[in-house]
Amino acid sequence: MARWRPRLVLLCGLPGAGKTTVARRLEQELSAVRLSPDEWLAGLGLDLFDGDARERVEQRLWQHAQALLGSGAVVIMENGFWERSERDEKRLQARAVGAAVELRYLQVPIEELERRIALRNQEPGSGVLTAELLRSCQEQFQPPTQDELDLFDAPLL
Ligand SMILES: Nc1ncnc2c1ncn2[C@@H]1O[C@H](COP(=O)(O)OP(=O)(O)OP(=O)(O)O)[C@@H](O)[C@H]1O
Ligand SMILES: [Mg+2]
Repeated sequence: MARWRPRLVLLCGLPGAGKTTVARRLEQELSAVRLSPDEWLAGLGLDLFDGDARERVEQRLWQHAQALLGSGAVVIMENGFWERSERDEKRLQARAVGAAVELRYLQVPIEELERRIALRNQEPGSGVLTAELLRSCQEQFQPPTQDELDLFDAPLL
């Protein structure tokens, strides 16, 4: 049945864009498995700003995602996917195991991101992200073009 077709949902956007918020909602609505590098790093007692640890966790989660897709699951990844090459790689590898692939780009003005992050920084237990670091993230970010978005499957919901 079509509803058992595996599907990968990639949430793309800068810090504060709302990836985790959307991913949690979709997790319920699509009966999906959500894979959050931040939550795995925290759960393993690792530093969220340790780039090497993040790289290793993201690679391991991607292997896990491919196994889940092979079992017919809907998998949501909220890594941010700032680089076009990462998004190409995920799309092509997921399609190779027969999965549909969605790219959801959460485009939010920088002033709004700053406002949200300043609020979140005040919450106990949340990692603190400075406005300066947010700006440097913005410089590295490669926004998807319409041509790229057209390469993905239409969202289910
Ligand atoms: N549509 C929205 N309007 C206003 N506030 C929002 C919206 N979506 C999320 N937020 C708030 O903005 C903050 C950041 O949201 P969220 O944690 O979902 O972003 P994120 O993209 O996962 O960020 P990060 O990359 O840092 O994990 C949270 O406090 C959240 O409640
Ligand atoms: Mg998040």
